[in-house]
Amino acid sequence: MHVGIIMDGNGRWAKKRLLPRSAGHKAGMNRMISLAEHAQRLGIKYLTVYALSTENLARRPREELDGLFGLFRKYFNDNIKKLYKSNARVKVIGDKTALPDDVAELLRGGEENSPEGAEFTLVFAINYGGRAEIINAVNRAVESGKKVDEREFAELLYTGSVPEPDLIIRTGGELRLSNFLTYQSAYSELYFTDVLFPDFSDGEFDKALSDYAGRERRFGKV
Ligand code: FPP
Repeated sequence: MHVGIIMDGNGRWAKKRLLPRSAGHKAGMNRMISLAEHAQRLGIKYLTVYALSTENLARRPREELDGLFGLFRKYFNDNIKKLYKSNARVKVIGDKTALPDDVAELLRGGEENSPEGAEFTLVFAINYGGRAEIINAVNRAVESGKKVDEREFAELLYTGSVPEPDLIIRTGGELRLSNFLTYQSAYSELYFTDVLFPDFSDGEFDKALSDYAGRERRFGKV
């Protein structure tokens, strides 16, 4: 099973506590780390977390972005070791070229040093945009000089061989996908909650899963 999460509401969570937005992102990162462990324990194979959209990178104040880059540095330098130990690997989707060089390098290292044959994959969407991903794949297909079918096209996306998400969760109350896994979400089940991401507990995640379990996925069949 593959679950995607749009981790929205960090800023509001911090504001409610009269804390800077950066404190919200830090709380969000800690929540994300615990959720990934929880998902792995449940036997989920892929968890994709939307950590920074292309639009966030273009539009958020420098100070907030620097705070987020600081969190990415910390995660990929320190926290990732525990993930590897648990036989999990990391994959990053998005355009790394617009990130600070050292961050891009850390992300690459995080992917390359991942254990072979890992049972769980944590996918980070960083400077990710679904439309940009599709355009990039179209250009790769054109460069290859031959027509592609849906399966071959999917291989050209950043997600490559990662299966499509079965369930996409968005916290923080907005009812949209915001350019997240645009091509891959065609048949995903969607779950929206008002809970702000730092408050999105393991129990809330379980609630989303049981909601999903009650859905009937027909993929166009009757
Ligand atoms: C959206 O909340 C959240 C983000 C733009 C950043 C999410 C990033 C993390 C949780 C850190 C991830 C860490 C790693 C290592 C990848 P918002 O700021 O838009 O919240 P608001 O809508 O309440 O303002």
